[in-house]
Amino acid sequence: MIEEVGAIISTWPCNSQNRDHCVATLARVEHTYFLWPMCISEVAHISAEITYTSEHSVEVQVNVMSENILIGTKKLTNKATLWYVPLSLKNVDNVLEVPPVVYSRQEQEEAGQKRYKIQKLERMETKWRNEDVVQPVLNPEPNTVSYSQSSLIHLVGPSDCTLHSFMHEGVTMKLTDEVAGIVAARHCKTNLVTASMNAINFHDKIRKGCIKTISGRMAFTSNKSVEIEVLVEANSVADSSQKRYWGASVFT
Ligand code: COA
Repeated sequence: MIEEVGAIISTWPCNSQNRDHCVATLARVEHTYFLWPMCISEVAHISAEITYTSEHSVEVQVNVMSENILIGTKKLTNKATLWYVPLSLKNVDNVLEVPPVVYSRQEQEEAGQKRYKIQKLERMETKWRNEDVVQPVLNPEPNTVSYSQSSLIHLVGPSDCTLHSFMHEGVTMKLTDEVAGIVAARHCKTNLVTASMNAINFHDKIRKGCIKTISGRMAFTSNKSVEIEVLVEANSVADSSQKRYWGASVFT
């Protein structure tokens, strides 16, 4: 839902100029904290606003509130910052320009520019993760990284895809969380919840018909928390000439 509301709010202004039509695609989710659980029978309220625009990208802030309709209380359960890039509907390899947003105060623009520069720098610095691989290990020893490492394989079908016929970001995030949960449960042998997720970069589009492999492994443990690294890899079933490529990488 977070991803959907972000895509809607960032696609609107990008189509306001008289030119090629586009759909905004999710390129990055900033570090996300899960502040409170949302319980069965509560109502979710998702709100979003554009907080910064660069030449070709849009920063969106999304807030999620849970409402208990029986007693009328509301809680902020999640805050997420997402970056979208508008892609032409005629040619998805064309990144279009974003009309500049009008800021109510100069400081908002300056703060946004600072965040934009920081995320660009972070992307350069973490490129090395793309070449990493999670290899299966036979008969691993308990409590080792190999013992709990886990993978999910998913065939990307039509219901997983966006208007461009590329895999929906929300589906990737859900599968990522599922793998991380399996790794953590295998290691800790108890119930766990996701407390936060590091920034996720969506490096490449994953097409309908691709086989997607989501692999997770333990990266760090403290007394009461575990950090899991998840890598998302895709390859085409139909076209064997296409190489494998990385879809995304995340620490959770
Ligand atoms: N986070 C935030 N912004 C990003 C980004 C990322 N991970 N990757 C690229 N951008 C921004 C750039 O900063 C640039 O904006 P600027 O010129 O205002 O600085 C803009 O995107 C275009 O960058 P460019 O280098 O020309 O394009 P690219 O070849 O890197 O392509 C994407 C960018 C987003 C189109 C490409 O990485 C992609 O297709 N990713 C997959 C998107 C997707 O399928 N999402 C769902 C996955 S399940």
